[in-house]
Amino acid sequence: MKPRLVSEALAVRQRAYAPYSRFLVGAAILSNGQVFVGCNVENASFGLTCCAEQMAVGAMVAAGQRRIDLIAIAADPLATPCGACRQILAEFGLEALVILVDPHGHCQETTVRELLPQAFQLPLKP
Ligand code: THU
Repeated sequence: MKPRLVSEALAVRQRAYAPYSRFLVGAAILSNGQVFVGCNVENASFGLTCCAEQMAVGAMVAAGQRRIDLIAIAADPLATPCGACRQILAEFGLEALVILVDPHGHCQETTVRELLPQAFQLPLKP
């Protein structure tokens, strides 16, 4: 499954809309055997930019899934998720495996827990 997720993240990265930063990011989530992808979508009003990871999480939740088993994130050079994305990933997969890749074959593995130690969690979470 890892190679499939990596190639999906690299493929969706090429569809990113990033005319302002020119920094293309793709994300592919494995959830219950299903794959959900997202790319960054920028806006002329810069603060409205949506990160690739958030778009992939939205696609997963909209399809009725709520657990991230693995997420591959493609950028050039390799990039770790921003702070906001770490918290959003933690909501659905604190133990998820995170694979960072670039289009040149470089690859690094970590976990959401490692990226966001002591993540904030509401005690009343369902
Ligand atoms: N970006 C992501 O898509 N994910 C991150 O975790 C960090 C940043 C995007 C947002 C923006 O379009 C571009 O990368 C440069 O910040």
